[in-house]
Amino acid sequence: MTLSIVVGGFFGDEGKGKISAYLALRDKPAIAVRCGAVNAGHTVVYNGKKWKLRTIPSFFVNPTTKLMIAPGALIRLDILFKEIEETGTRGRVVVDKHTGVIEKRHVEEEKKNAYLSGKIGSTLQGVGAAMSDRVMRRLRLAKDFPELKDIVDDVSLRVNEAVDRGETVYIEGTQGTYLSLYHGTYPYVTSRDTTASAFASEVGVGPRKVDEVIVVFKAYVTRVGGGPLPGEISLEEAERRGWAEKATVTGRVRRAAPFNIELARRAVMLNSATQIAITKLDVLFPENRGVRDWRKLSSRARKWIEELEEALKVSVTLIGTGEEALDVVDRRIELGLGEN
Ligand code: GTP
Ligand code: IMP
Ligand code: MG
Repeated sequence: MTLSIVVGGFFGDEGKGKISAYLALRDKPAIAVRCGAVNAGHTVVYNGKKWKLRTIPSFFVNPTTKLMIAPGALIRLDILFKEIEETGTRGRVVVDKHTGVIEKRHVEEEKKNAYLSGKIGSTLQGVGAAMSDRVMRRLRLAKDFPELKDIVDDVSLRVNEAVDRGETVYIEGTQGTYLSLYHGTYPYVTSRDTTASAFASEVGVGPRKVDEVIVVFKAYVTRVGGGPLPGEISLEEAERRGWAEKATVTGRVRRAAPFNIELARRAVMLNSATQIAITKLDVLFPENRGVRDWRKLSSRARKWIEELEEALKVSVTLIGTGEEALDVVDRRIELGLGEN
């Protein structure tokens, strides 16, 4: 029975949504809390249906999990209500009283900002503008909106009580380590810290309560917007390799580069990773598409994973082999780690 944080190890879009959906179905946590804001799109594919979630935790696929939004998160009311309908989760969603609310003027302000749209390549979803209002202590919070009165609660209290009762809780982080305002490739970063400690803080649990930190890496690296990307390949080359992706929120083309062990090593350090999840192994090694058993992975794929573990000194416990939530090789029991 554990408190675990799912966090991105590169520049976001590592597949936290897919890994979270898998963990929901397998571990059936009592509570899942989503952090971050609406600039982060998490893709969930389950039973052939696809959701692109910007607010609701990807853990919604397990019907017994309470879905919560962190006090440090930022929501937009229209997106929240739309996603509650799309996921059929009315009655299961709780927003913290201190969750920040992005309003129209924040989006308009960012759209007019040439620095954000030009140099930084922001998603222009109003997140930075709202964060800046929050720092200036004039942002309106969830408790200020009558539309939310039925679903506003004390998420920090609910989470701490559940952890103290020995229940399983997951915190779903957003974006990735190198988009962190503090630890990323500043100024080409997002408007919050995106490492594991920051997500614990967004929820309101102290570091001593955290049992597992699952850092998610994709089998190659992608990045949207400006900023350095070591080893970046051309779009044509990315297409040839099957690495070309479109961003979940903005539809922009994601830049791509090979897996970067130096970035991965530092992400393991910055997040105190206890486990690693690798997604899209099937893109690097197509013969493994849909495989769900370690022994059935091709020997070259197993070798790649084992070399990674050797270099990073952390076990690779979860391996994604397709878009579907259950397309995962789960080695947690075999490695004696986490739950299941
Ligand atoms: P951010 O919080 O925005 O950083 O997003 P994210 O980490 O949840 O990732 P996102 O869903 O934006 O992008 C990941 C993409 O990879 C999605 O299109 C997923 O459907 C896809 N994906 C995730 N895991 C796998 C996998 O193991 N195999 C394949 N083929 N696709 C995967
Ligand atoms: P902003 O946070 O929307 O202002 O965007 C700042 C930078 O972070 C840009 O390079 C964005 O592309 C990037 N970014 C923000 N959110 C995400 C995400 O969820 N996935 C990937 N990149 C993101
Ligand atoms: Mg995304």
